[in-house]
Amino acid sequence: MKRVNLIILVLLAVAFLIIVERNLLNLSDILHLENPDAGIVLPFESEVSPDLRLETVRKGEEIPVLITAAEERLGAVVAAMNSVYQNSKANVVFTIVTLNDTVDHLNEWLTKTRLKNVKYKIVIFKPELLKGKISKDPQTLEAVKPLTFARYYLPAYLPEAEKAIYLDDDIIVQGDIQELYESNLKPGHAAAFSDDCDSASSKGFIRGAGNQNSYIGFLDFKKDAIKKLSMRANTCSFNPGVIIANLTEWRNQNVTQQLEHWMELNTQEDLYSNSLAESITTPPLLIVFYKRHSMIDPMWHVRHLGSTGAGNRYSPQFVRAAKLLHWNGHYKPWGRTSSFSDVWDKWFIPDPTGKFNPVRQHAED
Ligand SMILES: *[C@@H]1O[C@H](CO)[C@@H](O)[C@H](O)[C@H]1NC(C)=O
Ligand SMILES: *[C@@H]1O[C@H](CO)[C@@H](O)[C@H](O)[C@H]1NC(C)=O
Ligand SMILES: *[C@@H]1O[C@H](CO)[C@@H](O)[C@H](O)[C@H]1NC(C)=O
Ligand SMILES: *[C@@H]1O[C@H](CO)[C@@H](O)[C@H](O)[C@H]1NC(C)=O
Repeated sequence: MKRVNLIILVLLAVAFLIIVERNLLNLSDILHLENPDAGIVLPFESEVSPDLRLETVRKGEEIPVLITAAEERLGAVVAAMNSVYQNSKANVVFTIVTLNDTVDHLNEWLTKTRLKNVKYKIVIFKPELLKGKISKDPQTLEAVKPLTFARYYLPAYLPEAEKAIYLDDDIIVQGDIQELYESNLKPGHAAAFSDDCDSASSKGFIRGAGNQNSYIGFLDFKKDAIKKLSMRANTCSFNPGVIIANLTEWRNQNVTQQLEHWMELNTQEDLYSNSLAESITTPPLLIVFYKRHSMIDPMWHVRHLGSTGAGNRYSPQFVRAAKLLHWNGHYKPWGRTSSFSDVWDKWFIPDPTGKFNPVRQHAED
């Protein structure tokens, strides 16, 4: 008798388990039916689809982020914006500074892809703004990327904001941008930057590649205009690819006018070291913010991923832990040979117009 009962009990248990398992399998089948192409609309789809959940309107304090969009590297802006947006629930509002000819292409990319819910406004940069402030030599004018000066005009582009973030386009954000935004600036400081001598930076810094981590690498200390400032030549420089700005202070201190002044002076005599390709945007910032800026957490600006070999010095663990990665240097992650381009690829969104394509070594794959 007892034995029969036991067998029945075991059979019941097995049957029960089979039913439960089938139902679970069905449930997991359903949970995997997120692909809208499957043509099945599930009432609870928004509960399970991370993409749809992100579409809920973001409220709360606005975090203004300014970024520039150059036609020939539009894929960079899109990847950077995507990384900022996906890694935060904050109410991020992008202001994208670009040239007139790029507006249509950019709009198409942002509205026809999964970035369609991102809040952004496009502001047109007028190159006339720089007339008389950069060298008139047409050859240098060609080489000058006018959009790199957009960061000088932060309060003009963000008239409503008190605090804002500026980001270069060759970056990927892996942390929550809210955390960067909440970094405190010291009273009286208009901006915060990452110093070129901080621990994270020197990890990737190649010794012997020039004085790229101090003022003397950017400024010609033999020129009177520079001498008169009595700045120490071995002062640690900073990288203006990531800026947190107090725009109230920026306006009160006339930072924009001061920067323009140093641009203008440079057209009369070369005050800046020519050794660096991007050197004409950085030196006026180094002068104006000499000993008058706050620090950004080094993990929020891990640099040199675009330098020869430098990026390879970072361990994959370190790169994963970084809150923000910056491919400054010649080797961009959308180019052929760059360190950690696989990290960048995760955030890249293909161009719906097909105009922009990252160069990949194994393009045939
Ligand atoms: C689970 O799916 C199977 C086919 O995969 C089907 O026969 C069964 O009726 C489904 N059960 C439920 C509870 O949906
Ligand atoms: C911007 O481009 C549009 C065409 O795309 C043109 O109609 C307009 O005049 C241009 N504006 C400026 C300021 O160049
Ligand atoms: C910006 O600076 C002003 C003037 O020093 C100060 O009153 C204000 O609190 C600062 N704002 C932020 C967000 O730090
Ligand atoms: C900023 O500029 C205004 C007008 O040009 C001037 O009145 C003011 O003194 C300047 N402030 C500083 C701190 O230079």
